[in-house]
Parts: sequence; structure tokens; C-alpha cells
Amino acid sequence: MDRITKRFLCLLLIALFLDFPVEIDAAGLKVGFYTKTCPSAESLVQQAVAAAFANNSGVAAGLIRMHFHDCFVRGCDGSVLLDSPNKTAEKDSIPNNPSLHGFEVIDAAKSAIEAKCPKTVSCADILAFAARDSVAITGNITYAVPAGRRDGTVSNATEALLNLPAATFDAAKLISSFKGKNLTEEDLVTLSGAHTLGVSHCTGFLNRIYNFSKTVSVDPSISKPYASLLQNLCPPNVTQFTPTVTALDLISPTVLDNKYYVLLKQSLGLLTSDNALLTDANLSAIVTDYANHQKTWEGRFAKAMVKMGNIEVLTGNQGQIRVNCRVVNKGTGTEQGLESGSGPDQLSGVASS
Ligand code: HEM
Ligand SMILES: *[C@@H]1O[C@H](CO)[C@@H](O)[C@H](O)[C@H]1NC(C)=O
Ligand SMILES: *[C@@H]1O[C@H](CO)[C@@H](O)[C@H](O)[C@H]1NC(C)=O
Ligand SMILES: *[C@@H]1O[C@H](CO)[C@@H](O)[C@H](O)[C@H]1NC(C)=O
Ligand SMILES: *[C@@H]1O[C@H](CO)[C@@H](O)[C@H](O)[C@H]1NC(C)=O
Ligand SMILES: *[C@@H]1O[C@H](CO)[C@@H](O)[C@H](O)[C@H]1NC(C)=O
Ligand SMILES: *[C@@H]1O[C@H](CO)[C@@H](O)[C@H](O)[C@H]1NC(C)=O
Ligand SMILES: *[C@@H]1O[C@H](CO)[C@@H](O)[C@H](O)[C@H]1NC(C)=O
Ligand SMILES: *[C@@H]1O[C@H](CO)[C@@H](O)[C@H](O)[C@H]1NC(C)=O
Repeated sequence: MDRITKRFLCLLLIALFLDFPVEIDAAGLKVGFYTKTCPSAESLVQQAVAAAFANNSGVAAGLIRMHFHDCFVRGCDGSVLLDSPNKTAEKDSIPNNPSLHGFEVIDAAKSAIEAKCPKTVSCADILAFAARDSVAITGNITYAVPAGRRDGTVSNATEALLNLPAATFDAAKLISSFKGKNLTEEDLVTLSGAHTLGVSHCTGFLNRIYNFSKTVSVDPSISKPYASLLQNLCPPNVTQFTPTVTALDLISPTVLDNKYYVLLKQSLGLLTSDNALLTDANLSAIVTDYANHQKTWEGRFAKAMVKMGNIEVLTGNQGQIRVNCRVVNKGTGTEQGLESGSGPDQLSGVASS
């Protein structure tokens, strides 16, 4: 072979790699899914997230958590975004109401995208992009999001309650909850690092500071001064609707970093589920690794977010591309789903439990 032929073959190989279904991952998603059909989709989402973040930096945490809560209930199908007339959708369930927030950011991104490329970009993908942009804006951690998710048509509050891990879970229950979504123990520890951002309402940790057990009132594994501080913040009669919140990460609550793991090791984790990562030898070895190696955690966090984003996705002609992220399109099935506009009559069939 002469040099020219070699060069040609080389270029051909590169072209094959760039162009072929190599890009489609195991879940059927693809990075750059909207490159041809809606080239501005990802940048419109990024702009909506940046604008919302400039007004209120807390939305980043809200959007990361929203993607997690979407993916754990019926897969990443945007079902967490649906409104229900009788308040029986996922967003109305105890783990989401009233703590989940940032829905208006998804609405803003969706409106901007519908104006440019109608009925093309799914709400589930918009949420996955928005979570990625929230990670980038708070943590200097970047990753490409495989896309092509389709939107689900069912949102059921009971399913949210049954599928989302509770703050009171011990290590065994957390491992089992993640295993149910094909996520490993390492993924559990890695993704829990999202608690380096944002806040919890009092009911998230009340079990640790009052009536912990029959014999002790305060969880012995929480730092005593920290427990007193939390007791002062939250009287025993609070409810999930009491607006008081406190940071999950005392050191750097607005920066996505590894301080969460450092705090855990000092008995300064906030939730039972956070502290639980220290109670199992396999999990706690990973906690120590991340507390000492920020870069190791960053790389794994990016990969684990992509993995979480692949849970039980709808692809091809499954589901629909919602026109309004809060409302199922009129009609059922796939193609009909694309034909309708939005209106109150579309609320039927949204949600129930
Ligand atoms: C391991 C099991 C998990 C449990 C039991 C859990 C539970 C909780 C609870 C109770 C809160 C407080 C919500 C509130 O009262 O406002 C919270 C907040 C949060 N969670 Fe988790 N979580 C878990 C895993 C995750 C994962 C995997 C992610 C994302 C990758 C995540 C992201 C967040 C974020 C960013 C916040 C702060 C939300 C805000 O500031 O609005 N969590 N979590
Ligand atoms: C700005 O953030 C506040 C909460 O901090 C919220 O109530 C308001 O709607 C936001 N405004 C815009 C334009 O996003
Ligand atoms: C952001 O991440 C890149 C790549 O890991 C690194 O080179 C850079 O120093 C980081 N920037 C900041 C401000 O941390
Ligand atoms: C987990 O993986 C198994 C085997 O590939 C698959 O059948 C199952 O649907 C997956 N579950 C989830 C929640 O992704
Ligand atoms: C703690 O237990 C006492 C006695 O059973 C009860 O009166 C009180 O309401 C409980 N407090 C909380 C916060 O659960
Ligand atoms: C809770 O108890 C405090 C006193 O500790 C009281 O001032 C407050 O009104 C009570 N709140 C509710 C919602 O009952
Ligand atoms: C740690 O992980 C190994 C391999 O997955 C497993 O066999 C072992 O039971 C685990 N140990 C604990 C304490 O969970
Ligand atoms: C809630 O509304 C849905 C339709 O939107 C309906 O299917 C369901 O039966 C209703 N549930 C209750 C409890 O009324
Ligand atoms: C909602 O989910 C629960 C739990 O799986 C189920 O029992 C209930 O029938 C569902 N509601 C509807 C209307 O499908």
C-alpha cells in the first residue's frame, strides 16, 4: 500500500466510527440526537438553566434531583413533569411535594424549543439536558447526554412513593433500591454525592433528632453539636410543608464537589441515608476514596449520571413527544400524540393512583 492509500483507509475508518450506529448506546439513545432535527435544542436548554440559575442558584439542585426522581419512576420518561387535576401525579407524592422544584425552568426551555422546532424534542430529554447543565454550572463537571428519550403518558403518585428511596433507608435498603434500577453499590455512593448541593426540609432528618429509637432520642451517629443545631432549627411538630430548609452540605452547599464525603466522615451527614453509606464496609471504602480524591469522584459522577439517565427509557415510536411538559397530548398512542395542540381537555388520562 502506498502512503495515499493508507491515508485514505485511515480516513475511511475514522468516518465509519463517526457516522455509524456505534454512537447508539445500549439503551437506544444517541449523543447529538437532535443535531439535524433541532440543532439549537441543547443550547436553548442551557440558556434557560443559566437564566434561572442567575435569578436563583438553588434551581440547579432542584433540576438534578428532578431528573433522578423522573428516572426512578417509570424510567426517564418525563412523567415527573406531568400535572394532575386531582393531585395524584408523581409530583404530588410525599417525596416530591412540595420539595421538588424547577418545573418552570423546564417549561421555559420547552417553550423556547417549541418555537424553533415544534413537536420534536421530548420533555424527558429536556430534563436530562437541564440536569447536565446544572451539574456543569455548579461543578465544572461536563458530560455528553445521549438523547432520544420519548415522553410517557402515565404519572402515578403511589409509584413515586414505592420507587423512590426514602431518607430513612439503611444501607441494605438503599443498595436494593438502586439494584432495582440496575445501579451498583458504587453508583449509589457516587450519585449520593449530589447531596453536595441543595437543601432538605426538616422532615428529611426529623427521625434522627427526635425519638430516634426506644432508648435514645438522638441518632448517636450524628455529631452532637450538629444535632442541637438541627433541633433548634426544626421543632418536633414540623410537617413536610413547613418551609424551613437546611443545607445538605455544610461546607459548600452551592458547589458540586467532594465535600459531602468529607462531611460524612465527620458525622456531619444530614440524612439517615447519607450516614448509611458509612455503615457498610464496601460503601464506606468508596466514601473514603471520594473524600480523598475529588477527581475520581468527578469522573465517576459524570458516568453515573449518564447511566441513571438510561433507566427504562422509551425510544423509537414508544410514548410521545409532549407539546406541553405538564400535559399528555390529546389522543393516545404515538403518532396521534404528535398531532394535538395543548389545552385543558388534554388533562384526561394524565395521572392517577
Ligand atoms: C440514595 C438515596 C437518596 C435519598 C434517600 C435522597 C433523599 C433526599 C431528600 C430527603 C432530600 C431533601 C429534599 C427536601 O426536603 O427538600 C434530597 C435532596 C436532594 N437530592 Fe437526594 N436522595 C437520594 C439520592 C439522590 C440522587 C441519586 C440524586 C441525584 C443524582 C439526588 C439529588 C438531590 C439533590 C440535588 C437534592 C437537593 C434538592 C434541593 O435543594 O432542592 N439525591 N434527597
Ligand atoms: C426568581 O427566583 C424566585 C425564587 O428565588 C422565584 O420566585 C421567581 O419566580 C424567579 N423569577 C424568574 C423570572 O425566574
Ligand atoms: C475545570 O475542569 C478542568 C478539567 O478537569 C480543569 O482543567 C480546570 O482547572 C477546572 N476549572 C476550575 C475552575 O476548577
Ligand atoms: C435491568 O437489566 C435487566 C437485564 O438487562 C433488564 O431486563 C431490566 O429491565 C433492567 N431494569 C431496569 C430498571 O433498567
Ligand atoms: C416522640 O414520642 C413522643 C412519645 O411517644 C410523642 O408524644 C411525640 O410526638 C414524638 N415526637 C416526634 C417528633 O415524633
Ligand atoms: C409548633 O410548636 C411551636 C412551639 O414549639 C409553636 O410555636 C408552633 O405554632 C407549632 N407549629 C405548629 C404548626 O403546630
Ligand atoms: C461487598 O461486596 C462484595 C462483592 O460485591 C460482596 O460479596 C460482599 O458481601 C459485600 N460486603 C458487604 C459488607 O456488603
Ligand atoms: C384522577 O384523575 C384521573 C384522570 O386524570 C383518573 O383516571 C383517576 O381515576 C382520578 N383519581 C382519583 C382518585 O380521582
Ligand atoms: C397507581 O399505582 C399503584 C401502585 O402500583 C396501583 O395500585 C394503582 O392502581 C395505580 N393507579 C392507577 C390509576 O393506575
